[in-house]
Amino acid sequence: MSADGFAHSPPPGARADWTIDQGWSGYSQAEHQVWITLYERQAALLPGRACDAFLKGLEALDLHRSGIPDFARINVELNRLTGWSVVAVPGLVPDEVFFDHLANRRFPAGQFVRKPEQLDYLQEPDIFHDVFGHVPMLTDPVFADYMAAYGRGGQRAMRRGQLANLARLYWYTVEFGLLQTPQGVRIYGAGIVSSRAESIFALDDPSPNRLAFDLERVMRTPYRIDDFQQVYFVIPSLQALLDATLQDFGPIYGRLDGASEIPIAEILPTDGVITRGTQAYALEKAKAAQ
Ligand code: PHE
Ligand code: FE
Repeated sequence: MSADGFAHSPPPGARADWTIDQGWSGYSQAEHQVWITLYERQAALLPGRACDAFLKGLEALDLHRSGIPDFARINVELNRLTGWSVVAVPGLVPDEVFFDHLANRRFPAGQFVRKPEQLDYLQEPDIFHDVFGHVPMLTDPVFADYMAAYGRGGQRAMRRGQLANLARLYWYTVEFGLLQTPQGVRIYGAGIVSSRAESIFALDDPSPNRLAFDLERVMRTPYRIDDFQQVYFVIPSLQALLDATLQDFGPIYGRLDGASEIPIAEILPTDGVITRGTQAYALEKAKAAQ
């Protein structure tokens, strides 16, 4: 997770790279219970919804056990599989800190766990979103390479003033990505798999558009942080996602400088349409807000 950090020095108690000890022995039984409740809900829902790489990763890391996972334990297997590890941070970290961790195959995860009354919604990513949502995919060698490349790409985008465009790529892949498989469309995005309601909405609801992933198109599409997405982008494979991002983004950034945003619910004649959404959910919500 990253934020437009305004505080650019680490908070008291954190190291220069913003990491802290997870303090695993300090979690209360009630906090472990929040993890178990969320885990059991998602584990029951995700077979047939999440992609194989995610489900395999969840299994490989044995994230269940008796509650909140100890990073020291999961890092042994994660490191063996793809060279990644999870590090604890106090909350959102500045972009340059986030990218440096990713480029070096460290995933910064929130140390805190949400309160029992926040099972379905919270503003800042907690350990359940960060670890349950993100870490299983990091056991996949292709996705692991993609995330590390994204970290290096982020450093470069910062220097070029292109972070807003690159952030859209992260949003529509790492957080809210869908994947086409022979069995049907599956979830790989952490923001979806860590949310019960969006795990259903993203695949089953008639409201959102589901469009074939196109790198430049994605980088022109704004996203919403306050509600379910109005559009999801579907990659043909994890390898195709990695391949699309291996190219030099320089020319793309050049074109994006003069390009307009694509309105969030728009479908272009050039889009590969998997589902033409009704947008009923978003329209209803907008009406209620008036
Ligand atoms: N290839 C991108 C660049 O030239 C870097 C990148 C890789 C960005 C993977 C995102 C994901 O900037
Ligand atoms: Fe996230």
